[in-house]
Formats: sequence, structure tokens, C-alpha cells
Amino acid sequence: MAQMNVSLQVNGNAVTCEVESRTLLVELLREHLSLTGTHVGCDTSQCGACVVHVNGKSVKACTMLAFEAAGADVTTIEGVAAADGELHPMQAAFREHHALQCGFCTPGMIMSALDLVANDPSPSEDNIRHWLEGNLCRCTGYHNIVRAIRTGAAAMGGSQA
Ligand code: FES
Ligand code: FES
Repeated sequence: MAQMNVSLQVNGNAVTCEVESRTLLVELLREHLSLTGTHVGCDTSQCGACVVHVNGKSVKACTMLAFEAAGADVTTIEGVAAADGELHPMQAAFREHHALQCGFCTPGMIMSALDLVANDPSPSEDNIRHWLEGNLCRCTGYHNIVRAIRTGAAAMGGSQA
């Protein structure tokens, strides 16, 4: 299998990885960079556990080849908290509202939520539920996740809580 070097920005750091042409972005993140906060929950692009931001937009990292991210600015869940470790308001809201149980879906939920709020600073419950159609949670029943996103959005400057 042909090897190639892929250079990109990940969480503000310039990185270059030698990957195969078939390597997925999620594999580059987890296996080459040890950023294991981005999870893999399915083989069918359905669960959303692998959501990261590519040039500011949420993307399922299992649906993108690593070389397609060449030159891109990628943010993973590891890049969301402040440098001193203080949680991002959306992360804090998930903790406050008990919006996770096993936590497997949580990184993808938060990355999806941040993309939603970037475009809709005060999302309605309906919009949140619609937006999360691509993120599956086996544990929580979603209610607390929706509450957390509304609180997180408010803490980020939106008008609803
Ligand atoms: S691992 Fe990407 S959608 Fe499930
Ligand atoms: S908290 Fe377990 S899958 Fe969502």
C-alpha cells in the first residue's frame, strides 16, 4: 500500500504523519497522534462518536480519508478545554447536567454541539434534537444531553438556558 506524508494542523499544532492512502482521519488521530478522545463506535458512519471539526465544521472522522485533511485545521475533543485544563462551557454543562453515563458518545456529542451553537447560538430543543440525529447515545435517553446543550449554548453567549 502506498505511503504518503500528510501535513495538517491538529488542535493548533502542525503535524506531519506518514499514512497509507486508505488511512482514515480517525485512524490518523487515534493511532498516529494518540488522540484517543475521538472514538470509533461503528463501521457504518452512523454513531457520531468520531465527530471532530475540520476547518470549523463537524465531520465524522471515520468518513474522511487522512490525506483529504491535508492542509486542514482539525480540532478534536482534546483541543476544546482551555490550556490550563479548565473545561469549555459546553463540557462543563455536560458535567452539570449528568449528560453522560459511559461517556463513549460524549466527545462526538460535544463536538457536534459546538458546531450547532456556532451556527445557532440559542438552539431550540427541536433544533438540538434534529442536529443530534447523527449522534447515537446508548445510555442517557438524550434528555440531559439536550438540557446540557441549551445550558452550554447560554454560557457561550446565547440567550436560552
Ligand atoms: S465511528 Fe464514525 S460514525 Fe461511528
Ligand atoms: S453516555 Fe454512553 S453512549 Fe452516550
